[in-house]
Amino acid sequence: MDTNILVTLPMTDADRRRLTERAVNCRVRTSTPPGATAEDLGWADCVLGNLKPPAVLERYPNIRWIHTPNVGLDAYAPLAESRPDLKITNIRGIADHPVSDHVLALLLTLARALPRVLHTAGNPCNWGAREDYGPHCMTLAGKNVHVLGYGSIARCLVRKLAGFDGAVTVYRRRGEGNDPHVARFRALGELTSEVREADVLINLLPSLPETRCLVGAPVFAAMRADALFINAGRGSTVDEPALIDVLKNGRLCGAALDVFTEEPLPEDSPLWSLPNVILTPHVAGRFDGEMRAHIDFFFDSLERVASADATTP
Ligand SMILES: NC(=O)c1ccc[n+]([C@@H]2O[C@H](COP(=O)([O-])OP(=O)(O)OC[C@H]3O[C@@H](n4cnc5c(N)ncnc54)[C@H](OP(=O)(O)O)[C@@H]3O)[C@@H](O)[C@H]2O)c1
Repeated sequence: MDTNILVTLPMTDADRRRLTERAVNCRVRTSTPPGATAEDLGWADCVLGNLKPPAVLERYPNIRWIHTPNVGLDAYAPLAESRPDLKITNIRGIADHPVSDHVLALLLTLARALPRVLHTAGNPCNWGAREDYGPHCMTLAGKNVHVLGYGSIARCLVRKLAGFDGAVTVYRRRGEGNDPHVARFRALGELTSEVREADVLINLLPSLPETRCLVGAPVFAAMRADALFINAGRGSTVDEPALIDVLKNGRLCGAALDVFTEEPLPEDSPLWSLPNVILTPHVAGRFDGEMRAHIDFFFDSLERVASADATTP
């Protein structure tokens, strides 16, 4: 395989060993911080990892393929016009378990009001909080959990939610589906009229022109004041000022957010200091073994293409 591969994935020593094992008949460069140089970019045929900003690919037509660890390909969408020849791949389904696990971790952290009582080094747990803890936390049994989106991650999540003995409602473009773990399917257009039933609303929508600010002021106004909101889809799908407004004014009980309109979340965002909000820095999709999976997927694909070329007369 006469291929120049530029690797920009963050890697552990074990990942580097795996890269060396797989990259037998090709030339590999790994870019080091702060990132790929113009020389690296001019040399590469393929990129394993992300390039920032993705628009840099417009200047390097020699790069024919980028394999990204992202699930949402929204960052690369503008290249469809300027680089229609560019092949962009990811691994469908790779984030199903990590994101669904992360959503459950956020949901339980909020539902059990853990920030009130959690002991961490330097932040001792408050034994006095035991007296009035009960009214601040909920159990999920019997609760209505509403999920926005029914993609690969949401399907994995609803299977896991079944163990909590609540009732799951899923919203998708057409409100239809057949899933033993879903009590009701509803159309996205029905969200504002249905969401009053929700104890928890979980957003797993992708970033698209059609989903921009889909969870906006009318949705938050329709939610009950004791409800919880979780976003692990994309920040652009939520009207963040409208969310901040209901959280500040006690018209929504709490929120757990992994994704934001602007990332990293700006230092002056009110979200940092709202007591009913917990945040993680867009890490829901991360897991141990992730980079090894990308390395194997990439080289398996490369080998398939090489053997197809070799057998094509
Ligand atoms: N926080 C993180 O670290 C993290 C990690 C991975 C992924 N994500 C996010 O999670 C999202 C979902 O991932 P996935 O793997 O489950 O995606 P997926 O399998 O591609 O599912 C996409 C979902 O989006 C819906 N959809 C597609 N086009 C739409 C439109 N025009 N309007 C409204 N809904 C539309 C689909 O609805 P239908 O059911 O109607 O077809 C489907 O439910 C990703 O796009 C990404 O943004 C976040």
